[in-house]
Amino acid sequence: MTFDLKRIRADFPILKREVNGQPLAYLDSAASAQRPLAVIDAESHFYKHGYAAVHRGIHTLSQIATTDMENVRSQAARFLNAASAEEIVFIKGTTEGINLVANSWGGSQLQAGDNLIITAMEHHANIVPWQMVAQRTGAEIRVLPLTENGELAVEKLADLIDERTRLLAVAHVSNVLGTVNPVKALVAQAKAAGLVTLVDGAQAVMHEKVDVQDIGCDFYVFSGHKLYGPTGAGILYGRKALLDEMPPWEGGGSMIDNVLLPMGTTWNKAPWRFEAGTPNTGGIIGLGAALHYVETLGFDVIHQRETSLMNYALEKLADVPDLTIYGPATRYGVIAFNLGKHHAFDVGSFLDQYGIAIRTGHHCAMPLMRHYNVPAMCRASFAIYNSEAEADRLAAGLTRIHRLLGG
Ligand SMILES: Cc1ncc(COP(=O)(O)O)c(C=O)c1O
Repeated sequence: MTFDLKRIRADFPILKREVNGQPLAYLDSAASAQRPLAVIDAESHFYKHGYAAVHRGIHTLSQIATTDMENVRSQAARFLNAASAEEIVFIKGTTEGINLVANSWGGSQLQAGDNLIITAMEHHANIVPWQMVAQRTGAEIRVLPLTENGELAVEKLADLIDERTRLLAVAHVSNVLGTVNPVKALVAQAKAAGLVTLVDGAQAVMHEKVDVQDIGCDFYVFSGHKLYGPTGAGILYGRKALLDEMPPWEGGGSMIDNVLLPMGTTWNKAPWRFEAGTPNTGGIIGLGAALHYVETLGFDVIHQRETSLMNYALEKLADVPDLTIYGPATRYGVIAFNLGKHHAFDVGSFLDQYGIAIRTGHHCAMPLMRHYNVPAMCRASFAIYNSEAEADRLAAGLTRIHRLLGG
């Protein structure tokens, strides 16, 4: 398929609205992307025609809903090139997926004196769950540092690994800098040392075709809402041999085999063992539509388009006086910056008045802010529906703010 921006923008009804009297320029897709009609309609069609509780009923509608939901599990397995649908766990999002692994795998495997490696560019979702399980088990957290320009200091990984290292958890793409980490090489190095590996793919799956078998990781996790899908629905891939060994982390309906009193309850097999309670079925159906949407567009087309738009935006921003851009030259989807000495909130508020939506703050990555010695950054993120005209508006808006406020 060739890229047709006009047609793609027409798929996203919200892009037609105005904000503060200006056409909306939505440059905050890394926080949460907008949804195409295909996703909105799939969810709404399911509620209108196919909804019932899943996994519980003998009646026709329940069976249809169960089949529809389980089809998305198979679809997600194909999307990630997992070996089977049984390696796919439905989760609310990346945060829940990492908490699941930290609690289930970490809680059952870690012992005092063990250590885990994370990196200095992780989102809080890939820091705090590990800290919590480390606190509980007496394990230690080790941190892979960054280089000056916001890449991982990969050569330092070997120094952090010893015979008590159990896990490497790393972002595929940084949510602040857009840095694309060499996850395949990092995973290979970690695996050679016997580590379990988790890749946080929240900022990667919308930009490139992910192949979990090629990466070689044990866990890969992402949220649907950053991939043009609904909120509250995401995917955790787990290598079958590991999932099969892991205990459940939440108890309730659906995750059991046999419930006995007063004790002696046995568990369902993976992945259902990790899906206690009634799932977000409508969201999962919408997620299936989102996977279909990006796959139909094609990752080659997406990659080519996004690279050209990012290069264009970086070129335009280079002309804005007193603008500091953070991160490496090659990046996916996001541009983090500060304008002169102005706080990101002030810059973001001005841009909002011009109809331009960006993210401001610490981006759930406080350690990364400390690395750059700033309290906050602005972040503009670019998705498949963004245009060169919006990049022009961002650059013009920043130049205007600089004129108004000075450097
Ligand atoms: C790299 C990364 N990891 C994890 C998360 C958390 O995702 P969610 O809030 O959907 O659970 C985000 C969200 O911004 C992210 O960018």
